[in-house]
Amino acid sequence: MQAWSYHPAFPPVLGHVTKRDFLSSIDISRHQLEDMLELAARAKGKRPGQVLAGKTLGLLFFDPSLRTRVSFDVAMVQLGGSCINLSRDDLYELEPKEQAVMDGIAEEHVMDAARTLSRYVDALGVRSVTRTGSWARDRQEVLLRSYARHATVPVINLETCFEHPCQAVADIFTMREQLLQLKGRRLTLAWSMHPDPKPLGPTHSVLTLAAMMGMNITLAHPLGFEVDDEVLQRSRGLAQESGGSVQVVNDLRAGARDSEVLYVRSWGSTKYWEDSEREAMVKRSLSDWRVDRDLMATTQNALLMHPLPVRRNVVATDEVLDGPRSVIYDQAANRTHVQKALLMQLLK
Ligand code: CP
Repeated sequence: MQAWSYHPAFPPVLGHVTKRDFLSSIDISRHQLEDMLELAARAKGKRPGQVLAGKTLGLLFFDPSLRTRVSFDVAMVQLGGSCINLSRDDLYELEPKEQAVMDGIAEEHVMDAARTLSRYVDALGVRSVTRTGSWARDRQEVLLRSYARHATVPVINLETCFEHPCQAVADIFTMREQLLQLKGRRLTLAWSMHPDPKPLGPTHSVLTLAAMMGMNITLAHPLGFEVDDEVLQRSRGLAQESGGSVQVVNDLRAGARDSEVLYVRSWGSTKYWEDSEREAMVKRSLSDWRVDRDLMATTQNALLMHPLPVRRNVVATDEVLDGPRSVIYDQAANRTHVQKALLMQLLK
């Protein structure tokens, strides 16, 4: 007897890895990404039915969220399952270090939390974007990886300082809805001004998946705001394999020129990750890294993308965010559909 019955229009698609975590944009191949996009398109067009009836997704938010929290909750409801949402205030202070002598503030080891939660829920999502002050440490996604190591159910990355793969799949899905095919299309990933140092997750994940899809990517950022070198190199490798390219420029206007998709977002400097005052000082001269009507006019009628939340009239003007080429709410809405596809694939 089959463990699960699926609506015939929504057969399970992926069959990868034993405990199928989704921690990074490189946890899926190009083929698997295409499958997920196809399943998401079907799930958007027609409700898949109660295929996850009786299943529970545990969502652990160590940092705030609007879209990720609500879109996962709605996705589970639409599939017949349910979510348990927990925030930092609901949880004990956690110790992720193996074999730690726990005589500090941490009340519980991640190992125990992950093993216990695995007895209650069918999959776990973890968001943790809090900076420790060390890029070398934050790029290791210690809390997420510790949950993934110890949980016996699939673990999903809901955003770290290093990756935001669910956002990136929704963004690729949105680009494809608009442009139909992505190979050879010109995407600009543009840094923007923001008063706070933001995590690099969305930028790293979109860069990786867009390279996988064979897009011609221009990464535009000021000096000092380089993305993680390993991510840049792996994206160049993926782009080469798929017929795309990745170039870096340190000028917003040069980066945006003739772009077909202008994806704007701020991120913190890995160079000044340990010194946010220094970063704030450097940023004082960068307020013109902002998208406005004049910049949009230099593009090839580009789509304007941002993963939200957005600082209006700092990152981009009201006029362009609310303009005809903005797809910011489509990106947010598509989170639900790609996450339905992901959940069906992970929990089949
Ligand atoms: N884009 C995104 O992840 O939004 P939230 O931080 O609101 O979840």
